Amino acid sequence: MKTQLTHMVSWAHRLLAEVLQPGDLAVDLTSGNGHDTLFLWRQVGVTGTVLSFDLQPQALIASAQRLRAEGAVVVCGEGIDAATAGVRFVLADHAQVNDYLITAPQAAIANLGFLPGGDQTLVTRPQSTLAALRALCARLVGGGRIAVVAYSGHPGGREEGELVERFCAELPPEQWRTIKLTTLNRRDAPWLMVLEKKMHHQ
Ligand SMILES: C[S@@+](CC[C@H](N)C(=O)[O-])C[C@H]1O[C@@H](n2cnc3c(N)ncnc32)[C@H](O)[C@@H]1O
Repeated sequence: MKTQLTHMVSWAHRLLAEVLQPGDLAVDLTSGNGHDTLFLWRQVGVTGTVLSFDLQPQALIASAQRLRAEGAVVVCGEGIDAATAGVRFVLADHAQVNDYLITAPQAAIANLGFLPGGDQTLVTRPQSTLAALRALCARLVGGGRIAVVAYSGHPGGREEGELVERFCAELPPEQWRTIKLTTLNRRDAPWLMVLEKKMHHQ
């Protein structure tokens, strides 16, 4: 199917789909309404695991509903480890992602900003976003990818995205490939950053 050229989430999904296999572990740093978690779960399948974080209970409730309706085994909070297949929703700051990673993930997504339809002042913040990205970078498998979709339409959004950009730009090129995808003719459009950890000796 043709991807809508400027729809960054679709490109994020396409680029993550290339590195995800049934049985893998994937992480959604911002569960929100569950669309990205559902995408990840479809890639890793019934034998795979998705860890999905949000600070807002209503986001996790909506996401859990969406995933259950699609037939996923869903666990909220404690009770599933990374060796158990299914979707684990975690009501916690994604800065703590490392505490929940029992094995190395193949892919992660961070769709930044606020919950669509929810409180627009409860947004992702640079400090926790960068802490989560640092932790994920350390744990990601070789060949794995992390996608970050940034938004400039809310206060602090552009600055947060630019800090993520700087973080990506400072990753050593011997170990990382990084790209940025932007819309050229719309100033406030979302943009996408993707990081790929190189395999050894590549
Ligand atoms: C743009 S929405 C995510 C959209 C979602 N991925 C989807 O598919 O619908 C951003 C979400 O990040 C959550 N969030 C903000 N700061 C967070 C943090 N530090 N840790 C975890 N979640 C956070 C918000 O509550 C909000 O639901």
